[in-house]
Amino acid sequence: MVKIGILGVGTVGASVANILEANAAIIEARAGKQIVVKRGVVKNLSKERGVSITLSDDPMEVINDPEIDIVVELMGGVEEPYTLVKRALQKGKAVVTANKALLAYHRYALQEIAGDIPLMYEASTAGGIPIIGALRTGLSANHIESIQGIMNGTCNYMLTKMINEGAQYDAILKEAQELGYAEADPTFDVGGFDASHKLLILASIAYGIDAKPEDILIEGIENITQTDVAFAKEFGYEIKLLGIAKKVGEGVELRVHATMIPQESMIAKVDGVMNAVTVVGDRVGETMYYGPGAGGDATASAVISDIVDIVRGNQGPMLGYKKGLESGLKLLSRDEIVTQYYLRLEVADESGVLANITSTLGEFGISIESMLQKPTSDEAVAKLLFTTHRCKESEMQEAITALGKLDVVRGEIAMMRIEK
Ligand code: HSE
Repeated sequence: MVKIGILGVGTVGASVANILEANAAIIEARAGKQIVVKRGVVKNLSKERGVSITLSDDPMEVINDPEIDIVVELMGGVEEPYTLVKRALQKGKAVVTANKALLAYHRYALQEIAGDIPLMYEASTAGGIPIIGALRTGLSANHIESIQGIMNGTCNYMLTKMINEGAQYDAILKEAQELGYAEADPTFDVGGFDASHKLLILASIAYGIDAKPEDILIEGIENITQTDVAFAKEFGYEIKLLGIAKKVGEGVELRVHATMIPQESMIAKVDGVMNAVTVVGDRVGETMYYGPGAGGDATASAVISDIVDIVRGNQGPMLGYKKGLESGLKLLSRDEIVTQYYLRLEVADESGVLANITSTLGEFGISIESMLQKPTSDEAVAKLLFTTHRCKESEMQEAITALGKLDVVRGEIAMMRIEK
């Protein structure tokens, strides 16, 4: 028999305990051993959890219990779980975590501490989708060319409603919070940080890149308006918050941002709270993984897959590479990113203004692909919407600064990247 201790019996922890009980026979048949939860730890013992396991409020009762073989960390946060996971590993216990923030900051340190002790994290990225297993094992024959994913259900839910139903940003964020999709602090979702944690985890497995959120380009969906949505529809695009990892020469671009993508692409059709990740391998070609990225049972399904793998004795390097043999690819500076761009700006509606704008873009080597002008409620002001041909991020940022200094430009300039 294998005994489990759960740190954090919230929605996911309760689902883990309940599924291990309800599906005990099939899980035992697959793992080869009976798996039982010995105890769980919660902060507030007076809250009803809907589980039949013994609960305490002291994590050390799990860490110090010699009968517990596997510690499941579902607490959230970064430093407290880091300390507890370290202690569990130092005691020789295997660990399963769903904690993307913990891994975004401490995955390489934890790999070092774990050594040969299993530390698994399938539920950390895209919830119930087995993307970690797919990358670590399923695609291990391949050089990974790219990963593109909808990795935040809250943003996808909001964008879907904004695009399909014309919903306003604030109202739809409130709805996503009420439905329980959003993080405790929803700026983690809408600001792109949650997706960046997941992207960094995937980039480690795909490329062996040791980067932190601060090292990569992260933008959210906060500035998207119905003007952008209407433009995207007219020009055949969907808007998605994507996590993108792309091999370019000897470097890797890592970025999270709202992206216009062709309506006919598979990932553009992923709506609502669902997640999806496409991975292109040099031998397998394009593969796609779709499913629920959040929710108690879906996330618990991934947690239990890790427990089963550990009980079976399936091991391997935590982050997919034997230490010292990583791909050698380096994180590219965000300035080096090359892509197409969409720009939205408000300008004085006077003769010569358009020429002024296009010549400023031209000064930075930026060539316009398409353009639309729309009136505003102020007849002296027009909205200009552009898409550009491919250019460097640094050129685009410099051009936006220069445009912002022109007398004819009114207010903020909005920009979105386009991936085809
Ligand atoms: N807030 C996250 C999301 C939950 O919306 O996808 C899963 O990480």
